[in-house]
Amino acid sequence: MKITNEQNDIERVLYTEKAIAARVEALGAEITEAYKGKMPIVVCILKGASFFYTDLCRSIKTDIYMDFISVSSYGSDSKSSGVVRLVKDINTNITGRDVILVEDIIDSGLTLNYLKDFFGARRPSSFKTVCLLEKEGRKNNAFQADYLGFRIPNEFVVGYGLDYADHYRNLPYIGVLKKECYEN
Ligand code: IMP
Ligand code: MG
Repeated sequence: MKITNEQNDIERVLYTEKAIAARVEALGAEITEAYKGKMPIVVCILKGASFFYTDLCRSIKTDIYMDFISVSSYGSDSKSSGVVRLVKDINTNITGRDVILVEDIIDSGLTLNYLKDFFGARRPSSFKTVCLLEKEGRKNNAFQADYLGFRIPNEFVVGYGLDYADHYRNLPYIGVLKKECYEN
């Protein structure tokens, strides 16, 4: 296994920086329309959604409140451990507020199903999810995001915040990771 954080670990690029920017801009415009005058609490799921979140927030042209949550389900593997663990909670009382949760990718749906219940228990006045990527042919627990960036093939992708064992997050594009980088 060799991780170099370089382009040569990427089998192929799925979305260029430019393609991502255009899609994020369009999602921001949709959210702007839906939330004018409401000051929603926009929550980033760390760390994978971080670049998507900051780009999306800048493309929302109405007042928002920013907050951050951290959960872990993958550890440092390329397969989910099947258990979601809360690592860092948000700092805001969301009761009676409009909440928008921002995630990088839906695979099994385990993470977002867990967080939907977690946020729902605090009685927000509304709860919506924005997800940059959704994998095709997902297994159980599927979760439908309210706003979706792209539907992708069922392969392991990195870049633009997405990682393998915390590597590759700062690649500016989204690409399929070569199998030899995570399989022995
Ligand atoms: P789920 O809980 O199975 O839906 O998985 C969602 C989480 O797993 C995301 O928050 C990602 O951090 C991670 N994940 C799933 N697929 C990938 C991938 O292809 N690349 C990087 N991270 C992934
Ligand atoms: Mg993640």
